Amino acid sequence: MTTRFTEAIEDRSARGIAAAVGRMITRGDLTIGTRLPTVRELSKSLGVSPTTVSEAWQTLTAVGAIDARGRQGTFVRQPTGPGSPRRYRRVTEGPGHFALDLSTGTPPSSLLPDLGPAVAKVSRQSLTSSYLDHPVLPQLEARLIDGWPFRAEALTVVDGAMDALDRVAQIVVRLGDRVVVEHPTFPPLLDLLDELGAEVIGVDLDDEGPIVAQFIAALHRQPVAVFLQPRAHNPTGVTTTAQRVALLAAALANTSAIVIEDDHSGDIATGALVSTGSWLPERTVHIRSYSKSHGPDLRLAAVGGAGDVVNAVANRRLLGPGWSSRILQAVLLEMLDDPATIATVAAAGAEYARRRQLVANVLESHGVGVTGSDGINLWMTVADERSALVTLAAQGIGAAPGEPFQVRDDSPHLRVTVGLIDSDHERIAGQLAVAAGESRSPRGHR
Ligand SMILES: Cc1ncc(COP(=O)(O)O)c(C=O)c1O
Repeated sequence: MTTRFTEAIEDRSARGIAAAVGRMITRGDLTIGTRLPTVRELSKSLGVSPTTVSEAWQTLTAVGAIDARGRQGTFVRQPTGPGSPRRYRRVTEGPGHFALDLSTGTPPSSLLPDLGPAVAKVSRQSLTSSYLDHPVLPQLEARLIDGWPFRAEALTVVDGAMDALDRVAQIVVRLGDRVVVEHPTFPPLLDLLDELGAEVIGVDLDDEGPIVAQFIAALHRQPVAVFLQPRAHNPTGVTTTAQRVALLAAALANTSAIVIEDDHSGDIATGALVSTGSWLPERTVHIRSYSKSHGPDLRLAAVGGAGDVVNAVANRRLLGPGWSSRILQAVLLEMLDDPATIATVAAAGAEYARRRQLVANVLESHGVGVTGSDGINLWMTVADERSALVTLAAQGIGAAPGEPFQVRDDSPHLRVTVGLIDSDHERIAGQLAVAAGESRSPRGHR
């Protein structure tokens, strides 16, 4: 039983064992449900201590590759948890007790503005007179419409960009409809579209945004909707240029597709925001999240643009939560006008750009492919996802596998939330580079 393991494992350190078993799983040599040898059996046949094997098993468990089921043994695990959302759960799969967890895609609290002063200012207000009040605080609405990238026919506020995507998709997308998305893209969006029974068409990105020829070809298939991230695209970090948006808008002009723009990074993005709404205001629904800039626990995003869609969202929501906390809306309003908060958000954006660049420079110097320039995430090429994750996990670093972000099969990648790295960028980037390249030559031949 252990022979194939002893043959496959050349490097007999805990890290080497974990990486080799990770590769056996990726290649399909070990199928889901396969029972692994016991720690004692394998340590004996490899001639290493049981602690070494058990350390390797811990690393593989941490990345969700194997599952220890007590007395029954240890088994190769289904790459996803039971049930949906399949892709989303995989992003931060496994118990993941990492010293440095870069899999999360969330901003560090150290770079978020302090809510204290704004909360203190709104704590005594009574903000709701009727359940049928307009869902957006009037002063906030005026402020948002003022800063909207195009003239919005209607605007409302919901509980974050994910809530917005869910509500807009439920209005716009029906079973069997075709929908265009970027490839790769945000995993929960793909899960959501799966759930709705949509047929998803992926369009690749280059440094300037979605590739026009592919975009036009996708539009020929008559999609009902196009989901785009205008800047700091997650996972690639690409901000779509003004020139590219103009070409996309021109291609969209002769269609009836609704464009749903997810500006999830808001003011922490350093790239300029250009919206298709400048050309197609009646068919663009623009979403602006405040999670990355002001804090995910404000749980607020604004949705504005095409009146029929936005009003349908607000009307349907009347029969559910009705509105997003007006207390939190008032906190956001205070913060949007507060000079200290504005400065903190701008400084955070610059700091994310700096962290991203430091890591990207090292990776590129090692020949690791890196895309984009904006936001808190970095999308890097690796020779083998699972081996790269295992190698990083053995060093206490978590990262997200690329597969859940991909619309179709593609080369292996990791998404790394480099915005969370507050020191030692070169050293950590070096570890990322090793993880990316090491698995390139499982037997040590380069
Ligand atoms: C592309 C994208 N959309 C939406 C979200 C979620 O935003 P929110 O916290 O506003 O729901 C994220 C979060 O990382 C994201 O990357």
